[in-house]
Amino acid sequence: MLPRSLLLSIGGVLILLIVDQCNGKRKWDYEPLSIETYSTDESMLKIEAKVDRVGRGEYAISANIEFKYTPDENTMVQASAYRSSSGEENDYKIIPLSIPKQPYSEFMNNHYKDVVIPNLGGCSNLIKFEDKFVPPWPQNTYVLDKCVANSDGFPDIVPEGYYKVNFTMMNPVDWGFILIVKISTKLV
Ligand SMILES: *[C@@H]1O[C@H](CO)[C@@H](O)[C@H](O)[C@H]1NC(C)=O
Repeated sequence: MLPRSLLLSIGGVLILLIVDQCNGKRKWDYEPLSIETYSTDESMLKIEAKVDRVGRGEYAISANIEFKYTPDENTMVQASAYRSSSGEENDYKIIPLSIPKQPYSEFMNNHYKDVVIPNLGGCSNLIKFEDKFVPPWPQNTYVLDKCVANSDGFPDIVPEGYYKVNFTMMNPVDWGFILIVKISTKLV
């Protein structure tokens, strides 16, 4: 028989766990494993990115994006996401978490405003706005300096596994990146 006080403290820990499940904090950790970039015309857009280790078990993304063109009404944005439970290349399956192909102005007023600005606004010179995006997107060299996204705009619960995201901007140059992150469940 376990002593009553021990049972009470186990009960307490369980209650804390359950309370924690309810307060809308994210229940997962992520570790970026790799980022690969591509561009069909570096005279219009040049992108370089890397994953840096910034501490024990802490990784951050740094990038340099030279925007030497102005996206227009033909510029489209698309992102596809894949999940693999093993991390094996041939195990990735497409998942619904994605950005359907859409005009970049639509992307700016939704995903960019709700996810990119809160997560990357503080570690980069990416443009920020509050109400509505007013084109044009300024030509500039955008720098992401050791960004650790704080996960605003992501679900509280994400199944463990390896996730691959392919983000693309199309017309007049096609460019983007393929990011692989490992998601694990947080141990309180
Ligand atoms: C990434 O997406 C672009 C545009 O849809 C596509 O052309 C490219 O093949 C994709 N790359 C990978 C590795 O999935």
